[in-house]
This record gives sequence, C-alpha cells and structure tokens, in this order.
Amino acid sequence: MRRSSIFLGALLLASGWARAHELSEATQTCLSCHVSVLPGIHGDWLKSKHSRTRPSEAMGKGELERRFSANSIPEELAHVVVGCAECHTLNPESHPDTFEHNGFKVHTLVSPRDCSVCHPVEASQFEQNLMSRAHGNLMGNPLYAALANSINGPQAVKDGALLQREPEELTQSDSCLACHGTKVQVGPRMTRETSIGSMEFPALRGWPNQGVGRINPDGTRGSCAACHTRHAFSIEVARKPETCSQCHKGPDVPAYAVYQVSKHGNLYNSIGNFWKWDEVPWRVGKDFQAPTCATCHVSLIVDPDGNPLTPRSHAMADRLPWRLFGLIYSHPHPRSPDTTGFRNSAGLALPTELTGEPVETAVIGPEELGKRLSAMEGVCSSCHSSPWVQGHFEKLKKTISDTNASTLEATRLVLRAWEKGLAKKENPFDEGIERMWVEQWLFFSNSTRFASAMAGADYGVFAHGRWDLTKNLRKMWEWLEEREGK
Ligand code: HEC
Ligand code: HEC
Ligand code: HEC
Ligand code: HEC
Ligand code: HEC
Ligand code: HEC
Ligand code: HEC
Ligand code: HEC
Repeated sequence: MRRSSIFLGALLLASGWARAHELSEATQTCLSCHVSVLPGIHGDWLKSKHSRTRPSEAMGKGELERRFSANSIPEELAHVVVGCAECHTLNPESHPDTFEHNGFKVHTLVSPRDCSVCHPVEASQFEQNLMSRAHGNLMGNPLYAALANSINGPQAVKDGALLQREPEELTQSDSCLACHGTKVQVGPRMTRETSIGSMEFPALRGWPNQGVGRINPDGTRGSCAACHTRHAFSIEVARKPETCSQCHKGPDVPAYAVYQVSKHGNLYNSIGNFWKWDEVPWRVGKDFQAPTCATCHVSLIVDPDGNPLTPRSHAMADRLPWRLFGLIYSHPHPRSPDTTGFRNSAGLALPTELTGEPVETAVIGPEELGKRLSAMEGVCSSCHSSPWVQGHFEKLKKTISDTNASTLEATRLVLRAWEKGLAKKENPFDEGIERMWVEQWLFFSNSTRFASAMAGADYGVFAHGRWDLTKNLRKMWEWLEEREGK
C-alpha cells in the first residue's frame, strides 16, 4: 500500500509539477518517498515560502522587503526552491550526524550554520542573544547548576534526613533543558524498521529538543525552530505571542502571562484576526494597531508610507537596557550573552554583589543603557506620545529599585540564618528559609518587574506581585524570630 503511494508520488513529480516548481533533482528524489513517508512534514513544507521561492528571486527584492539576507549564494542553490535536500544535505562535512540515506549525505538537525547560508544576518545576531547561550548559561554556572539540581534531583528520607541525589540526564532534558536546550550527542548508527523496509540512522541523545540554546552536533548554538516552527517557517507564527508563551510564561518568567492581561494583549486577542501578519516590512497603524512580543523585541517596523522606524534585530538586547530577570537582583543588561564569565567579590559567577551593586565589568555602562532605552522608546513612539512613554519608564525604574531593595532585605535575613547556624549555606537553595528567599527574587520580584515593564498590572499586585513579596518577607522574618527564640 505504502509502496503504491510512493509510486504515485514519483509519478506526480515526473508529470512536470516538479519542473514548474523548480525543485532540484535531489529534492525530487526525497519527495518520491517523503510525499507519503511523513506526509505531515511534506504538507507543512508545501505551505512554506521555502517551497515556492528561489534564492535568486528573494535576493532581488528591495532592502526592506527582503526576507533573505545573503548577498551571494552557491550557484547550485540559487535557481531552485528550498526543498528537503537544500537544508538537510548542507555542510555535510561539519555534521557528525550525517548519514548515508538513499544515495545522499543527509543530517536531521538543520543547524543555525545551515540556515546562515541564506540568512547570515539573523544567525549572527542570534549569536548575540542570551537565548543562544541558554544551555551554557545554566549548566556552566556552578550556582545555577546547583539550583537546577536542587529542583530536579530525586529526594528520599534516609537515616532521619531528607537527602537529594543528582538528577539524571533524561530528567534534566525533560525539565530545565526543555527550554534552555540540551547538548545533542550523536551515537552509533542503528538499523531501524521503517514503512518501506530497514534503514540505518544515527542514534541521537538529547533529542528531540528545540531549546533556544541547544548545543548542536556541529558545535553551533541554538535552534531557529524554537520560534520558526518547521516546516512552514512562517513569519506569522514567529510574530504571534503564543510562540514565545511556550517558554516565557511560568511564575519565574511571566512575560506572556503579563502580556495577556495588558491592554496590548487584549487588543491582540480582540482584533488580531484582522491584522496582516505576513507583510514585510510591517506597517504600524496599517497592518497592526497594537504590539505583540515580536513588535517590541524583534520586528522591523515602518510607517504606513514605508519609511523605516525600527530595524529588525535577532539580538534583541539592542532594545533591552536592563536585565529585569533578577539573579538575584535586576541590573543593567550584561555586556556579553555568555553570563558564565562574571565574578563578584565573593567569587560567585553573578553579575551583581550579594548586596545588589552591579559588577562594573559585567554590565553595560550608562551611555549604552540610554541608547537601548531610546531604541525601545522608539518602538512605543509610533503609537504613544512622549509623556505617556516617559511616564511608563519612570514607573519601571521605581519598580526596579523597590524590588531590589526588597531582595536585599530578604538576602540579609538568609545571611543571618547562615551566620547563626539555622541553615547551611553549602547548598543555598534547599532549606525552608532558603526556598522562601528564592521565591522572593525568582517569582515575586521578577513578576512585579515584568508587570511593570509590559503593563500587565495584575501580575505586579495580587498574582505573584507585591502582595506575595511583602507577605513572604514577613514569613521569612517570623521563621527566623521563632528559631532565634524571640
Ligand atoms: C527510498 C525512500 C526515501 C528517500 C529517497 C528519502 N528518504 Fe528520508 N526517510 C525515508 C524513510 C522510510 C524514513 C524513516 C521515517 C520514520 O522513521 O518513520 C526517512 C527518514 C528521514 C529523516 C529522519 C532521520 C532520523 O533521524 O530519524 C530525514 C531527515 C530524511 N529522511 C530526509 C531525507 C532527505 C533530505 C532525502 C533526500 C535527500 C530523503 N530523506 C530521501 C525514506 C526515504
Ligand atoms: C526567539 C524567537 C526567534 C528565534 C529563536 C529566531 N527567530 Fe527569526 N524571527 C523571529 C521573529 C519574531 C521574526 C519576525 C521579525 C519581523 O517581524 O520583522 C523573525 C523573522 C525571521 C526571518 C524573516 C525576516 C528576515 O529577518 O529576513 C528570518 C529569515 C529569520 N527570522 C531567520 C532566523 C534564523 C536563521 C534563526 C536562527 C539562527 C532565527 N530566525 C531564530 C523570532 C525568532
Ligand atoms: C528550511 C530548511 C528545511 C527544509 C526545506 C526541510 N527541513 Fe526538515 N527540518 C529542518 C529543521 C530546522 C528541522 C528540526 C530539526 C531539529 O533541530 O530538531 C527539521 C526536521 C526534520 C525531520 C525530523 C523531525 C521529526 O519530527 O521527526 C525530518 C524527518 C525532516 N525534517 C524531513 C524533511 C523533509 C522530508 C523535507 C522536505 C519535504 C524537509 N525536511 C525540508 C529544516 C528543513
Ligand atoms: C538555500 C537557502 C535557504 C536556506 C538554507 C534557508 N532558507 Fe529560509 N528562506 C529562503 C528563501 C528563498 C526564503 C523566502 C524569501 C522571500 O519570500 O522573499 C526564506 C524565508 C524564510 C523565512 C521567512 C518566512 C516567511 O513566512 O516570511 C524564515 C523565518 C526562514 N526562511 C527561516 C529559515 C530557517 C530557520 C532556516 C534553517 C533551518 C532557513 N530558513 C534555511 C532561503 C533559505
Ligand atoms: C518553560 C521554559 C523554561 C524552563 C523549563 C526553565 N527555564 Fe530558565 N529561563 C527561561 C526563560 C524564558 C528565561 C529568561 C527570562 C528573561 O530573560 O526574562 C530563563 C532564564 C534562566 C536563567 C538566567 C540565566 C542567565 O544567566 O541569564 C537561569 C539561571 C534559569 N533560567 C534557571 C532555570 C532552572 C534552574 C530551570 C530548571 C529547574 C529552568 N531555568 C527551567 C525559561 C525556562
Ligand atoms: C524554547 C524556549 C523559548 C522560546 C520559544 C522563546 N524564548 Fe526567549 N528566552 C528563553 C530562554 C531560556 C532565555 C534565557 C536565556 C539565558 O538567560 O541564558 C530567553 C531570553 C529571552 C530574552 C532576553 C534576551 C537578552 O539577550 O537579554 C528575550 C527578550 C526573549 N527571550 C524574548 C523572546 C521572544 C520575543 C520570543 C518569541 C518570539 C521568545 N523569547 C521565545 C527561551 C525561549
Ligand atoms: C509594549 C512593548 C512590549 C511588548 C508587547 C512585550 N514586551 Fe517584553 N519588554 C518590554 C520592555 C519595555 C521590557 C523591559 C526592558 C528591559 O528589560 O531592558 C521588556 C522585557 C522583556 C524581557 C526581559 C528581559 C530581561 O531583561 O530580563 C523578556 C524576556 C520579554 N520582555 C519577553 C516578552 C514576551 C515573551 C512578550 C510577549 C508575550 C513581550 N515581551 C511583550 C516591552 C514589551
Ligand atoms: C502598535 C501600536 C503600539 C505600540 C508600538 C505600543 N503601544 Fe501601548 N498601547 C497601544 C494601544 C492602542 C493601547 C490602548 C490605549 C487605550 O487604552 O485606549 C495601548 C496601551 C498602553 C498602555 C495602557 C495600559 C493601561 O491598561 O492603562 C501602556 C502603559 C502602554 N500602552 C505602554 C506602551 C509602551 C511602554 C510601549 C513601548 C515599549 C508601547 N505601549 C507600544 C498601542 C501601542
């Protein structure tokens, strides 16, 4: 049955459909099977721009209309559409996951380096984004790795004590690394039964995974598919907030939750159906009337007449003056997307001192901070007057200093517990008062700041905001007083 549909696929291709769509011979061979083997992938790809556009034609578009940033491309790729073979056989020599597959050297993980043959600007900007380092920033920082272990390690009561073991690889990849990205490793070739007989494929460890900072077998960082879901790779999907919600929603990072209760999110939900999601460049006022995550953080925006207002950026940090996400304090944005290299005066890999002052060599200076704030304000200015925008950021600055002050008080209480031997500082994340302290900065301060930055007041007050921040600090204080016998 399968074989007959494959025959049908081959017939269809031979009938001239393939020539009309300018498929390479290699891709025609892939499709002779893959029209029916994994038909969902084929159907998704058919809907993509890749299946319909030749690089030579994409390259010829005007600067602002372009969705293709390479200025030159190998001749054999220029005049055919981007099919299975154009992605899955690129750079075979740099892929340890390359395997012989029906006469082709195929790899499964199409990496940022592969995409960069046609999209070099996006790939090199993404290298500057914290997201591309998300695996190393977590696993390569002893303090953060200890936090991961104290959450993922299995617990058991033994000899009257609650002990915790190190988590296993599969647990890590199902937990933190689901978003931060795994390190994908290539194992031995294995023979597998498929619908058309047995075939050999390499075994992949740490896969499937589309974490933003995944370490790929070819040594590159990140997965473009985290936002550009394969195989449609549609700009519409990337521009919609649900794409980001997959990772930016929990109580530690509630950007999406905040957005949903903001006026902007309300407008998206109410009238977003009528917006134009596929236009490049994106015309503010004409194609859309309120921002999504992409608008404020990534998109190229032009006015209704097509004059450029804000350039596109896959680095994102060029519009981010601060690091709101406090570990443990909020601070000016880090200079480098690799956050493992900083040392504070206590020797910890943190961008701030335990008392909150930023480590100067770790974070951007006031001039760069001002530049980035203006870039973000530039996005707001296409819809809001300047007092509206300035008033908004005044409140955010106040929120940053208030929440940092609250974290400092909480940290003083934990230091007091350690000094008095009421808790052990060897693992700073496992005991009762330490867990309260973690919630203070990881959940409540972050939530309050995200709500302030992205105008979703609910998350700054009763939903993990100031209510919990003040209540929890009191609980920490009472915990200490009780044990100190006061
Ligand atoms: C003779 C039929 C045939 C041809 C030709 C063919 N494939 Fe496949 N391919 C298969 C089958 C069958 C599977 C296994 C699917 C499964 O696991 O269910 C597969 C699996 C794959 C996988 C997944 C490998 C993994 O890690 O599990 C990729 C990627 C792939 N093919 C790409 C290609 C590309 C690219 C081409 C063309 C250069 C191609 N295929 C040509 C039949 C074919
Ligand atoms: C965190 C989410 C995210 C990741 C990861 C991401 N992108 Fe994007 N990308 C976007 C958004 C949002 C847009 C829409 C930008 C706009 O509206 O101007 C976009 C647009 C694009 C476009 C179309 C417009 C253009 O820039 O020419 C290309 C091509 C692209 N991305 C390539 C990549 C590549 C290659 C990677 C991996 C190196 C990547 N992206 C990783 C979010 C992402
Ligand atoms: C624009 C580049 C591109 C094109 C074109 C493309 N792929 Fe992929 N493909 C990817 C990416 C990216 C992934 C995600 C791999 C990962 O990082 O985990 C992927 C994953 C896959 C997988 C493994 C995913 C799974 O769920 O099993 C298969 C199989 C596959 N592609 C087959 C195909 C086939 C068949 C075609 C042609 C119809 C095709 N691809 C066209 C980029 C591409
Ligand atoms: C061989 C060249 C080539 C490769 C490799 C390639 N692309 Fe593309 N990409 C294109 C072309 C051509 C277009 C269509 C441009 C246009 O319509 O003007 C495109 C468009 C896009 C768009 C915009 C789609 C839209 O709906 O507007 C995204 C996003 C994108 N590619 C992501 C990727 C990612 C991610 C990879 C790697 C997994 C990749 N591309 C690999 C050539 C390529
Ligand atoms: C659902 C997705 C998701 C999961 C699961 C996840 N994180 Fe994160 N993590 C994020 C996001 C999103 C950010 C960035 C937040 C921001 O920039 O506002 C982040 C940032 C971080 C950072 C900051 C790193 C730096 O130096 O910039 C640390 C540390 C961290 N997470 C620890 C963890 C630990 C530990 C776990 C597992 C127990 C975990 N995360 C699980 C999404 C996730
Ligand atoms: C697969 C999970 C995932 C998806 C999807 C995702 N992110 Fe992230 N994002 C993360 C993680 C993890 C980090 C933190 C990395 C670190 O600190 O090391 C992060 C960090 C960020 C940062 C801080 C970047 C910096 O350099 O300071 C911004 C802004 C951001 N994400 C916005 C977005 C937007 C907008 C989208 C959707 C278009 C999105 N993210 C989609 C996981 C994700
Ligand atoms: C109205 C514009 C706007 C919208 C819409 C928006 N953001 Fe933000 N975002 C901001 C501002 C302003 C900041 C604070 C600037 C900074 O961190 O330096 C921020 C901060 C962030 C950060 C924190 C980075 C850090 O410093 O820790 C992340 C992550 C983020 N946004 C993700 C998202 C996601 C995901 C969405 C959609 C669900 C979204 N944003 C929607 C304007 C916006
Ligand atoms: C594409 C247009 C657009 C952009 C860009 C935009 N906004 Fe808005 N914003 C709106 C609209 C429309 C409203 C709804 C106004 C109303 O309440 O009548 C709104 C409402 C708001 C509110 C009202 C919150 C409330 O519920 O009282 C704040 C605050 C806000 N925006 C701040 C910003 C900031 C800060 C930026 C830039 C980081 C920004 N906006 C970018 C269109 C935009």
